[in-house]
Amino acid sequence: MLNLTGKNALVTGIANNRSIAWGIAQQLHQAGAELGVTYLPDEKGRFEKKVRDLVEPLQPSVFLPCNVQDDAQIDATFEAIEKQWGKLDILIHCLAFANKEDLSGEFSQTSRQGFTTALEISTYSLTRLAAAAKPLMKEGGSIVTMTYLGGVKVIPNYNVMGIAKSGLEMSVRYLAAELGPSNIRVNAISAGPIRTLASSAVGGILDMIHHVEQIAPLRRTVTQLEVGNTATFLSSDLASGITGQVLYVDAGYEIMGM
Ligand SMILES: NC(=O)c1ccc[n+]([C@@H]2O[C@H](COP(=O)([O-])OP(=O)(O)OC[C@H]3O[C@@H](n4cnc5c(N)ncnc54)[C@H](O)[C@@H]3O)[C@@H](O)[C@H]2O)c1
Repeated sequence: MLNLTGKNALVTGIANNRSIAWGIAQQLHQAGAELGVTYLPDEKGRFEKKVRDLVEPLQPSVFLPCNVQDDAQIDATFEAIEKQWGKLDILIHCLAFANKEDLSGEFSQTSRQGFTTALEISTYSLTRLAAAAKPLMKEGGSIVTMTYLGGVKVIPNYNVMGIAKSGLEMSVRYLAAELGPSNIRVNAISAGPIRTLASSAVGGILDMIHHVEQIAPLRRTVTQLEVGNTATFLSSDLASGITGQVLYVDAGYEIMGM
């Protein structure tokens, strides 16, 4: 039942070999899924080359730029998927952004622009991508996004991203309720802290990881591949009864009170 052969999976959010999306892509591929990959384009094409070289062994049959702030790029991505695959089964939303200056210091000092940008990219994009995916998920489907404990409890420096993740988790519930009758499931994975490009922008990330290593029941944090295993499970028929949930993959840290 964890065989994803014949399933088409679009993975967003691969930036480099530390990306959680890279861990997810590898595990989906191992389970037999056909992969599509999008990357965030930049003017000099550096991201494109880096991501193309990285994912080459997984032989994605779709490889496209998709800045989620640009409706035209989103529409082009899903048009290409319709043309190439005819249907989509799995959508992995694994991206976020906030200005570095909004990820430390006083939350009350978050600028209007910083707040809007963080929520547009990190929260609204899930809804926008889900709307584009819905008509292509003709045989039902699974949408998985990535969240963090800082959307539920106050974590020092996480600041505006906590608001974004809180909104993301609620978006998962509204989307799950709307898309359930079409047999499209929507879930979030709340991962423990992992060193990545995005997390290095959060003030004190290494201290956070060290703290988790002391406190979490498993006395460690998690890896990208462990998150990838859970995303693969949620995308498979083994999880056919699960929707609207936030699943913690955090070595148990979330249960601790002290
Ligand atoms: N690393 C952690 O500790 C941790 C913990 C819990 C949740 N998460 C979440 O996991 C997800 C992936 O982050 P990561 O830690 O792997 O870092 P990452 O930097 O590898 O991935 C973030 C991705 O977001 C993409 N992105 C940013 N702005 C974009 C835009 N406008 N359009 C399209 N893509 C855009 C980047 O290109 C990058 O690929 C994020 O949602 C993050 O909040 C991370």
